[in-house]
Amino acid sequence: MLSISTQQRVALEWNLNGYQPCPKLKPRPQITSKICSMISTSKTHTMAQEKVEVFKSLESWATQHVLPLVKPVEISWQPHDLLPDSSLPLDEFNDQVKRLRERTKELPDEYLVVLVGDMITEEALPTYQTWINKLDGVGDETGSSQTPWSVWSRSWTAEENRHGDLLKTYLYLSGRVDMLMIEKTIHYLLGAGMYLGTENNPYMGFVYTSFQERATFVSHGNTARLAKEGGDPVLARICGTIAADEKRHETAYVKIVEKLLEVDPTETMMAIATMMRRNITMPAHFMQDGRDPHLFENFSVAAQRLGVYTAGDYADILEYLIRRWRLEKLENLTSEGKRAQEFVCGLAPRIRRLQERADERACKMDLTFSWIFNKKVIL
Ligand SMILES: [Fe+2]
Ligand SMILES: [Fe+2]
Repeated sequence: MLSISTQQRVALEWNLNGYQPCPKLKPRPQITSKICSMISTSKTHTMAQEKVEVFKSLESWATQHVLPLVKPVEISWQPHDLLPDSSLPLDEFNDQVKRLRERTKELPDEYLVVLVGDMITEEALPTYQTWINKLDGVGDETGSSQTPWSVWSRSWTAEENRHGDLLKTYLYLSGRVDMLMIEKTIHYLLGAGMYLGTENNPYMGFVYTSFQERATFVSHGNTARLAKEGGDPVLARICGTIAADEKRHETAYVKIVEKLLEVDPTETMMAIATMMRRNITMPAHFMQDGRDPHLFENFSVAAQRLGVYTAGDYADILEYLIRRWRLEKLENLTSEGKRAQEFVCGLAPRIRRLQERADERACKMDLTFSWIFNKKVIL
């Protein structure tokens, strides 16, 4: 095991506390030790050089089976379709904003916290595109490369870009949230980056995106349901529209891993096991607002307690992917591959048992969030 150097630790603390050090900010011990231990054992560019050929050989397959999942711009929704129309005469535009504020005024504070956290996660899109382009064999080498992998990842980015734009504008118009603190959080998060433990390895990268796209589909689906229950059908439509995009993206990434399992079962099975051993970390785990050293953990608690994204969902997603990829029936594995298969196929019940025990111990918490003007929420 490699040990983390002082220089790496200082850089990491710098990142976690914001790239401009904030003297008032306390360190984040839990995250720091967890990420430090991940980084201390991390490797980069672990895929064997000859595996690049696997991705090259799949280019015509990707053109036929992945690119059709990109939606043409002319038939795609845009944030404009779901927001008050600023091209209208001022009184009509004001009327639309007024109606938006009437719809959002009864939404519970804890719901807004989760929606803001989801929106901030979407807003860190430059980090995600950078990360995808670092995956060996599938990155966009020129910035406008025409390989199907690059065409897909740029189209994916363009589609994703609307998610943060739409949610952020809607929340801004609602007047219910502290935009300055939200903008600072986005600024800090983009400066901090992320660490997913995928080693620039596209096998692990596509396992991660399969899981994560489904997680965002589940999460936006739940914020849609809660918006409807909270009296805002337009916000429900917004979250539902974003969830539908996430579902289509999940389909693309799940298909890629399915194909990799067919052409290279052991390598792919081992990548799935490695990612599950490391946990699929939410990509905004370096989130902070310059005030609350536990912001990300508190946001995660809020998402868990509101039922927007829970440990049960994590286990459900794992079970879904095991079924979808038919991992239990996978053949032609080496002994290492079989061990990876056994580990992954037995993991979901263990996660559920751990969660049940954690739920039994859980007690009510008072949490304060700068995003809602430091109001307290009880979770
Ligand atoms: Fe998204
Ligand atoms: Fe997504």
